[in-house]
Amino acid sequence: MTDDGGSPAPLLAGRGLVKAHGRTPALRGASIALGAGEILAVTGPSGSGKSTLLHLLAGIVRPDEGSVTYAGQRLDRLPEQRLTELRRTDFGVVFQFGQLIPELTAVDNVGLPLLLAGASRAEARRRAGEWLERFGVRGQEELRPGELSGGQAQRVALARALVTGPEVVFADEPTGALDSLAGEQVMTALARTAREAGTAVLLITHDAQVAAYADREVRLSDGLVLPAEVAA
Ligand SMILES: Nc1ncnc2c1ncn2[C@@H]1O[C@H](COP(=O)(O)OP(=O)(O)O)[C@@H](O)[C@H]1O
Ligand SMILES: [Mg+2]
Repeated sequence: MTDDGGSPAPLLAGRGLVKAHGRTPALRGASIALGAGEILAVTGPSGSGKSTLLHLLAGIVRPDEGSVTYAGQRLDRLPEQRLTELRRTDFGVVFQFGQLIPELTAVDNVGLPLLLAGASRAEARRRAGEWLERFGVRGQEELRPGELSGGQAQRVALARALVTGPEVVFADEPTGALDSLAGEQVMTALARTAREAGTAVLLITHDAQVAAYADREVRLSDGLVLPAEVAA
């Protein structure tokens, strides 16, 4: 997959993205590209448009202007149903507060995307258990989110995002509500498992220590991606 210039086509790219929330401009022509298996940090001050950018790239929200291309197809032009399907098979999402389902145990939260993809309950629980182990959540399989620490809950949310083997995981300030030790454990687990599985990660953070887990960092300011600083 190379273009005429010989550079590899990105797995996911947003070009000239414009999005307003009512009359508030959130993105004003942002462009960004994510390579297969790449861990890319997106940093920038609060209100700079990071979450909006993630929502557009993940196909949760459509842009007002600009394009989102994923694996060679225009994501922003896909009909709703195909978009939903593609998001289920190819994308995983983690937010600041994991948004686990409070009534389900840890193992059933992680198994849910597998059930939605047609796995049996036994198979879903088995594979969910493996992923919980990979994220160092052992012995807590049958606990509900309210019984977990913040760091444990985020690792369960990461296991849920990765359990289907997605091409891209979108993480919006996944350590934003954690103390620094729990944040480090979450990031170590995310970076290790993503690299093992070859999963690309779009990692939003305003913590430099978290961004340090990424291969590359881009900065947003006032709805625009800043040009990369040229190495001195
Ligand atoms: N649902 C919304 N309704 C109205 N304004 C919003 C909404 N979401 C975001 N905004 C505004 O859009 C801008 C960018 O927000 P956001 O993408 O959440 O930035 P960040 O994640 O960097 O903090 C901000 O000015 C914010 O107030
Ligand atoms: Mg945000």
